[in-house]
Amino acid sequence: MQDKERLTGEIRELKEKRRAVILSHVYQRPEVQDVADFVGDSLELSRKAAATDAEVIIFCGVHFMAESAAILSPDKVVVLPTLEAGCPMADMVDEIALARRKKELPGALVVAYVNTSAEVKAASDICCTSANAVKIVSSLPPDREILFIPDQNLGRWVRRQTGRPMHFWEGHCNTHDKLRPEDILEAKAAHPAAVVLAHPECRPEILDLADAVASTTGMLRYAKESPKREFIVATETGLLYPMRQACPDKEFYPAATRLVCPNMKRTTLDKVRDALTTLRPRVTVEPQVREKALAALARMLELS
Ligand code: 13P
Ligand code: SF4
Repeated sequence: MQDKERLTGEIRELKEKRRAVILSHVYQRPEVQDVADFVGDSLELSRKAAATDAEVIIFCGVHFMAESAAILSPDKVVVLPTLEAGCPMADMVDEIALARRKKELPGALVVAYVNTSAEVKAASDICCTSANAVKIVSSLPPDREILFIPDQNLGRWVRRQTGRPMHFWEGHCNTHDKLRPEDILEAKAAHPAAVVLAHPECRPEILDLADAVASTTGMLRYAKESPKREFIVATETGLLYPMRQACPDKEFYPAATRLVCPNMKRTTLDKVRDALTTLRPRVTVEPQVREKALAALARMLELS
């Protein structure tokens, strides 16, 4: 039997035994997405993590996502199959640097992209994802200053959509920020009829060249609903798999094949199997941190 089939079978059996649910981000490897009970973007995954009645959540994604699951479902066992799967963008802000910045901006509301640690969320007023950032920022009182952390590309895009002045943090996604206008122009030259879809973690000059800017799920929805047949996808290349599955009659081209997040690819089927066997590595959050971080996440979920 093929390795993949054997591992998939073992995972299915262990999942029943452990009363576990497997959640996968859309950037995960195809075979990992295939064994998941639910595949989605950060917002959908946090909703699922909050609502599941499973005893164990196997989170196939990166550390901050599993941490959000632990914040939202403290009575569940949350397992991240590989602890090294971090998010370099989330590591660009910590609670000490944030406290310093907050002192410089007294009264400013802190909007934290979910790509942050639990400690940073705990020191923030409200969270957002790329799917709801415009809505979250628009909901804030117009007389309050805003500090948007840590992704300045997403922040600048939200500022453009809402017209709200904002202070930014100098953070970015190492994967999306690598994309250059030349990549898009080359892809367009190769596929002149294709629609360009871009994630707001890309630089502003990329978003200027896009036909639509949306979160991963937003891009997927756009492709499904569009009468067009070809799409250039400016985000982590993992999204091409669910896109091709959802629209087998359409063509999807990566804006650049190097748009790969190494952390998202660290989770493999054997690590998922091991995580179900040992229920490790576990992700937990200190109760005092959890309570405050939950407040920021819950405000976001109420508004979404
Ligand atoms: P989505 O919120 O669109 O899933 O993107 C999040 C992301 O970049 C995960 O790293
Ligand atoms: Fe972090 Fe970017 Fe990877 Fe998402 S794609 S996990 S933002 S490094």
